[in-house]
Amino acid sequence: MLPQKIPSLSCSQGVGGVCVKAIVTGSGGLVGSACVRFLAEQGWQVIGLDNNMRQEFFGPQGSTSSEVVSLRHSLPTYRHHSFDIRDRQKMRDLLRAERPDFIIHTAAQPSHDKASAIPYDDFDINAVGTLNLLVAARDFCPESPICFTSTNKVYGDRPNTVPLRELETRFDYADGRDGIDESMSIDASLHSLFGASKVSADMLCQEFGRYYNMPTGIFRCGCLTGPHHAAVELHGYLAYIVLCAVRGRPYSVFGYHGKQVRDQIHCTDVASLFLEFYKSPRPGEVFNLGGGRANSLSILETVAALDDMGFQLKYEMLPQHRIGDHICYISDLSKVRAAYPSWEMQYDLPRLLSEMVAQYYSSEAAPAAKKRFRRRRQPAAGQLPRPLPEAL
Ligand SMILES: NC(=O)c1ccc[n+]([C@@H]2O[C@H](COP(=O)([O-])OP(=O)(O)OC[C@H]3O[C@@H](n4cnc5c(N)ncnc54)[C@H](O)[C@@H]3O)[C@@H](O)[C@H]2O)c1
Repeated sequence: MLPQKIPSLSCSQGVGGVCVKAIVTGSGGLVGSACVRFLAEQGWQVIGLDNNMRQEFFGPQGSTSSEVVSLRHSLPTYRHHSFDIRDRQKMRDLLRAERPDFIIHTAAQPSHDKASAIPYDDFDINAVGTLNLLVAARDFCPESPICFTSTNKVYGDRPNTVPLRELETRFDYADGRDGIDESMSIDASLHSLFGASKVSADMLCQEFGRYYNMPTGIFRCGCLTGPHHAAVELHGYLAYIVLCAVRGRPYSVFGYHGKQVRDQIHCTDVASLFLEFYKSPRPGEVFNLGGGRANSLSILETVAALDDMGFQLKYEMLPQHRIGDHICYISDLSKVRAAYPSWEMQYDLPRLLSEMVAQYYSSEAAPAAKKRFRRRRQPAAGQLPRPLPEAL
């Protein structure tokens, strides 16, 4: 799809000499802010939408307002709106006025534990907020590609029915499969209310692709990570565990003896894939998206990797796992790689962990963390290399 010309826009650079404009919802969050920065660096005009609802969900430590301030200061062409995606009329007004070439929809209530405490807000934001965006897009910019960040939680706990084998530090698939592909049923399994509200949004995005032939891409994400994650216990597992290790805070492991596996993908790699989708969109297409097998890690392996980097995590093992929690989830990336062969992930696990440790360490004044870092040991052969963050 060729970028559409926006004559009213003052665009100093543009993409290939053409002004192109994107709207990113959830622009203060982990994925949203990465998408804003990535597109702005490529010459896009970016309009963000985020009302810092994350602070309401998770308290002050979950606030994304400083990230929005940073976007405003570092990107001169960035424009921000702070209304709620549940506000249907404002959403219509925004899309009518801007008619963006590209939409990335990341605003959400992102935690399945939190959803059961705030079921109305969870559904209104995740499902109805997505519907508000889709209908406005259908009416004002139906040809503009839309990327939606869905989640692997739409599969509910069905991935736990895949036969597993228990290894020393992790669970893995007993049938030798590389990961979970898109053919897994999303029906008749335990989802959590969060999973159910995301299924609704996922289905709506598919439907607007199929019924209206709109270029909607549905990306069912595994664990997304990056340095700008406002990590809290209920959302952002890797960032939160790194935060606890670096700052000496206690961490609780919920069930499965710490052998539960997740694949990790950096938010900038997500942003670069979304740009590939913009260039070559497909209506209503679903993709599983995560770090894949190479970027998969169990909690025990995460603890060991952090230990090798000099940060010993104080943790307790709780016998009870979280309701509906996956035992082993690794995304099968075959479909997304086949559709977008020029997309390449830039972040492997050592780079990912290094960046996070550097982020939390550099903003950590406590001498205890520095002492812990000085005590770091040499890793055993074959283990993750110890990073040397520049910030140290
Ligand atoms: N982070 C992960 O590991 C992960 C995994 C799978 C899927 N996802 C999905 O990716 C998306 C982004 O995740 P994230 O980690 O960047 O989340 P995040 O919480 O960091 O960012 C979401 C942003 O949306 C904003 N927001 C929430 N409700 C809003 C509303 N009603 N109106 C306007 N803004 C609102 C929040 O203030 C926040 O800044 C979500 O849809 C999430 O479900 C994330």
